[in-house]
Amino acid sequence: MENMVCLTMFLQLQHVETTQGQETTVRKSSKTGLLLASLTGGAAIILSAVCFPFVSPALRRVVLPYVPASTQQVENVMKALAKSHAGGRKLIDLGSGDGRIVLAAGQRGFQSHGVELNTVLVLYSKLTAWRNRITNASFSRQDLFKVDYTKYNNIVIFGVEEMMPELEQLFERSLKSSSQVIACRFPLPNWKPSHVIGEGIDTVWVYEV
Ligand SMILES: C[S@@+](CC[C@H](N)C(=O)[O-])C[C@H]1O[C@@H](n2cnc3c(N)ncnc32)[C@H](O)[C@@H]1O
Repeated sequence: MENMVCLTMFLQLQHVETTQGQETTVRKSSKTGLLLASLTGGAAIILSAVCFPFVSPALRRVVLPYVPASTQQVENVMKALAKSHAGGRKLIDLGSGDGRIVLAAGQRGFQSHGVELNTVLVLYSKLTAWRNRITNASFSRQDLFKVDYTKYNNIVIFGVEEMMPELEQLFERSLKSSSQVIACRFPLPNWKPSHVIGEGIDTVWVYEV
C-alpha cells in the first residue's frame, strides 16, 4: 500500500515537472517569435525609409528618376567646364544624384553645389565630399525648380525630355549674362548650343548666355 502511495506521488511530481518544462519551452519560443517579428518589422520600416526617396520622384508632376551620369558623361561635362567662357567658377548641378558631377567639378577648382530631393543621396554626397576632403563641394535637399540661379555661372542639368521646355523658360527669366548651361542627354528645345560634346546618350550641349 505504501509503495502504491509513493509511486502515485512520484508520478504526480513527474507530471508537474513535465508541465512546467513545456510551459518554459512555450514561453521561450513565444519570446523568440516576438523577437523575430520585431526584427522583421524593424527591417521592413528601415528598408521602406531608405527606398521611399528613390520611389517618390514618380509621384511628382515632373518625373525625374535617379540615373547616375556615366563616366563618359562626367568627362564630357568636365571638358565643357574646361572650355567655359562663363564669368565665374560657381557651379550648380540640378538634381545632383550621388554628387559625382559636383565632386568632379569641385576637384577642378569650381565652387560647386548640388541640389537634390533625395535625402539619402544628399547625405551620401556630403559623406563622399568629406571622405575625399573636397571642401568646395556642397549639397542641399532642395527642389530644382525653386533654386535661385542668379548666384551661379555654370548650370548643369541631367534631366528628362519633358522638363526641358519648362527649364528653358526658367533659365530665360532668371539667368544672368556670362553664364552657361550644360545640358546632359537632353538638349534645351529652342536655344542654340554654342558647342556639343560627345555623342549618343553621353552627349552634352553647352549654351552660353
Ligand atoms: C538623372 S539623375 C541625375 C543625377 C546626377 N546629376 C548625375 O548626373 O549623376 C536626376 C536626379 O534628380 C533628382 N530629382 C528629381 N526631381 C528633382 C527635383 N524636383 N529637385 C531636385 N532634384 C530632383 C533625382 O532624385 C535624381 O537623383
